[in-house]
Amino acid sequence: MTGNKETFGVLFVCLGNICRSPLAEGIFIHMARQRGMLDRFDIDSAGTGAYHAGERADPRSIRVAKKHGVELVSIARQFQPREDIDRFDLIIAMDRENERNLLGKGAPRDRLRLMRSYDPALAGARGAELDVPDPYFGEGDGFQSVYDMLTRACSGLLVSIDR
Ligand code: 4NP
Repeated sequence: MTGNKETFGVLFVCLGNICRSPLAEGIFIHMARQRGMLDRFDIDSAGTGAYHAGERADPRSIRVAKKHGVELVSIARQFQPREDIDRFDLIIAMDRENERNLLGKGAPRDRLRLMRSYDPALAGARGAELDVPDPYFGEGDGFQSVYDMLTRACSGLLVSIDR
């Protein structure tokens, strides 16, 4: 843990902070609460871009979450290098582009991870296989498929932190 704080900080990051990272944040909060572990964490999400700052999550993310009993309360904000690097123990990027941008903004390599690297079914996977695809411009069930990916990864993440 960073500093003297009591909680373990986890920040989920995508590009806009309206589709993928608010969903990851909501799922992780939901799982931690179900397992009675929520008070151990400081959980938030952010975007590398500021285009949607101040907005609620995309209605399609809110809908798929709600269908699975997960509430999304996140308001979009941009990643703030100084404050966020100080506050969070783990910074989790949704794809390799977000990861590159975060490194460019000074995020420390040893506290930066790709979301899908926590999916046990993807052990040994590399490259694009580890990206959570951006569902924003897509059609069809992109949000359901992102939800499924994030659920597997959040579950692996909880196990990895709890060890
Ligand atoms: P997110 O999706 O990074 O998962 O929140 C996006 C949302 C908006 C845009 C791109 C990605 N956009 O270009 O506005």
